[in-house]
Amino acid sequence: MIKPHGADSLNPLLVTDPAEHKRLVAEAATLPSVLLSSAAAANAVMLGGGYFTPLTGYMNVADALSVAEQMRTTDGLFWPVPILNLIDDPSGIASGSRIALRDPNVSGEPIIAIMDVAAIETLSFDQKARITQQVFGTLDAAHPGVAVFQAQGNHCVSGAIQVINLSYFETEFPGTFQTAVQIREDIAARGWEKVVAFQTRNPMHLAHEELCRMAMERLDADGIVIHMLLGKLKAGDIPADVRDACIRKMVDVYFPANSVLVSGYGFDMLYAGPREAVLHAVFRQNMGATHLIVGRDHAGVGDYYGPFDAQAIFDEVPEGSLEIEIFSADHTAWSKKLNKVVMMREAPDHTPEDYVFLSGTRVREMLGAGIAPPPEFSRPEVAQILMDHYRAEAGSLSA
Ligand code: ADX
Repeated sequence: MIKPHGADSLNPLLVTDPAEHKRLVAEAATLPSVLLSSAAAANAVMLGGGYFTPLTGYMNVADALSVAEQMRTTDGLFWPVPILNLIDDPSGIASGSRIALRDPNVSGEPIIAIMDVAAIETLSFDQKARITQQVFGTLDAAHPGVAVFQAQGNHCVSGAIQVINLSYFETEFPGTFQTAVQIREDIAARGWEKVVAFQTRNPMHLAHEELCRMAMERLDADGIVIHMLLGKLKAGDIPADVRDACIRKMVDVYFPANSVLVSGYGFDMLYAGPREAVLHAVFRQNMGATHLIVGRDHAGVGDYYGPFDAQAIFDEVPEGSLEIEIFSADHTAWSKKLNKVVMMREAPDHTPEDYVFLSGTRVREMLGAGIAPPPEFSRPEVAQILMDHYRAEAGSLSA
């Protein structure tokens, strides 16, 4: 199987040995604690599950700046996005000490991890702006990822962590949430060698489904992992349980048995476009995928990135930094001329009128009004789940 990133074996920071786990839980109760941001808690979940191998914890300011500017840590490890624990108030904790980290996303704010504090540094206004500009390509506070990042504290608490639990993901998404360790085991058990990963934060329409099929066929892959984000999203995105139901239905009805693993990971969406695409590649390699699909406006939002910037950034990835390969896809849509979904660059004789195009806004309007989009856009089974979701949402708002 493909090697993890920067290491010979995965480095999941979740403590699974029962005796050690019990000891840590008891110790955690005696330690000073800090409440994490949702983003830092999501980092702990990713570190816990082995997705962020070979990192051992949160980065310090020097590493964060180096990663933001050169996609490398100060030790030379290739890494595209700073993995940080930024807090508002560091009083009560000291470097050199062990502290408990509390989870803001679970009721009662339980301890999610223990940290050996290596340093507590202040991130200056300029440093935070540099990181924001490099990672998101903009300082615009209207960008949802920038807004979340800027709202985090200015004290950077770095150091190694031991993870005690995986937040709300195992209980809220049983059967879908998996660690990188579990996905590697699953891939091995299925006997897959060439494995494509599909990143998604949306319910999958026909263009997404066909994109997966094209990648599978063209790469002659053994299987595909449809790997959905289960963490926090901006307002208006479809909730994870609804997406999960749509994707599972589509896979059950339209894909051959044992060709797809439907799975999810616990991370908050950054909407960082190109940089997030590279992070996606790093952690898909860690979960055992040999290829990652990167299509149009991957991990993008609004007009902040060009439609294929998330593919172009891989030209800047130095040779040998990643083993996973990218399957770069052009815009896919239903061709009325050919009666199938095509990649536009492969239909040079087509004009825009030859395609079935529906904007996200138009699709939401239709689903909200109980109108199924045409089958050239959406599978009827998927449309039904989405219409039910919008009806329930409208019902709960008017109740
Ligand atoms: S993302 O933020 O998780 O990237 P989304 O779930 O919409 O958003 O997209 C999942 C993947 O499908 C990404 O690689 C994206 O580039 C690709 N994609 C989505 N729609 C299209 C399309 N019509 N044509 C080509 N690629 C697409």
